Amino acid sequence: MNLPVIVLGARGMLGTDLMECLRRRNIPAQGYDLPELDITNAGHVESVVGQAKQIINCAAYTNVEKAESEAELAFRVNGRAVGQLGRQAAKRNIPVLHISTDFVFDGMLDRPYAETDAANPLSAYGKSKYEGEKALSASGCRFCIVRLQWTYGRAGTNFVKKLLDTARAGKPLRVVDDQVGSPTATREAAEIVCRMMELPMSPEGIYHLAAKGYVSRYEMAQFVFETLKVGVNLNPCKTSDFPSAAKRPLNSRFNCGKLEKLLGTAMRPWQEPLREHLEQV
Ligand SMILES: NC(=O)c1ccc[n+]([C@@H]2O[C@H](COP(=O)([O-])OP(=O)(O)OC[C@H]3O[C@@H](n4cnc5c(N)ncnc54)[C@H](OP(=O)(O)O)[C@@H]3O)[C@@H](O)[C@H]2O)c1
Repeated sequence: MNLPVIVLGARGMLGTDLMECLRRRNIPAQGYDLPELDITNAGHVESVVGQAKQIINCAAYTNVEKAESEAELAFRVNGRAVGQLGRQAAKRNIPVLHISTDFVFDGMLDRPYAETDAANPLSAYGKSKYEGEKALSASGCRFCIVRLQWTYGRAGTNFVKKLLDTARAGKPLRVVDDQVGSPTATREAAEIVCRMMELPMSPEGIYHLAAKGYVSRYEMAQFVFETLKVGVNLNPCKTSDFPSAAKRPLNSRFNCGKLEKLLGTAMRPWQEPLREHLEQV
């Protein structure tokens, strides 16, 4: 029987692009999201795991600021539910590809993070996501964890959308120049996840996925406005200038060598997909 790939969190920012990518590649897929499927509900999860060839879990509690005051919910969704998903998948020998984040790191390293670097999350969100990684690896299922950072896409809220909204409102804008990473399109991330799934041997373990090249948030904002030829009163500032409940890693840079070796190709430079995205929006 040709069972579908099941995507959880299918209407989120990444899930939307992933469903589109699976459709484009003619890979049979079925997507679920709240309210019809709550990953914290064991019965909901059990009812779909049995029908799956493979599970891709994009479902997550993703509000970094709110997670500080809703830590219990964040841990339930991002931590315990992921362990439960893994245990149910293990019983049926179904592989799970789970999405995680750079927020598992404290950002203190002076080089890009490799998969072998020790996690040390700073925020409730980061801790809950790390809890999910540990619970999945202890669940006994065949798993692959793909960590993303600085993603943007057409669905959901993200940094690019916030920049454009502020510019449209004609407000002056201050953007931090001490957070460094690689702007990564969810469309690109979805393509790469599909390519990973199409490999003859399902990849297992942890992989870092990000566009090529590193930039500060401020430089990224400059690129966005220059590309769109929009005049904005844009000024650099520091992370410490913004009152924030959650601590964020300043260094979100990923070393993607392991993934590039697996796929046999290099990541695209961050500017190309961002330019394409801006043309579309
Ligand atoms: N955005 C980033 O910059 C970024 C960076 C690194 C890693 N990631 C990771 O990428 C993955 C995808 O995130 P995203 O950016 O696509 O975020 P998103 O747009 O918030 O998508 C998450 C999806 O999960 C759903 N969800 C929340 N709680 C759920 C539950 N209990 N059961 C089932 N579904 C639930 C959300 O539904 P509601 O909208 O109704 O809550 C939403 O549709 C996550 O694992 C995230 O940690 C994101």
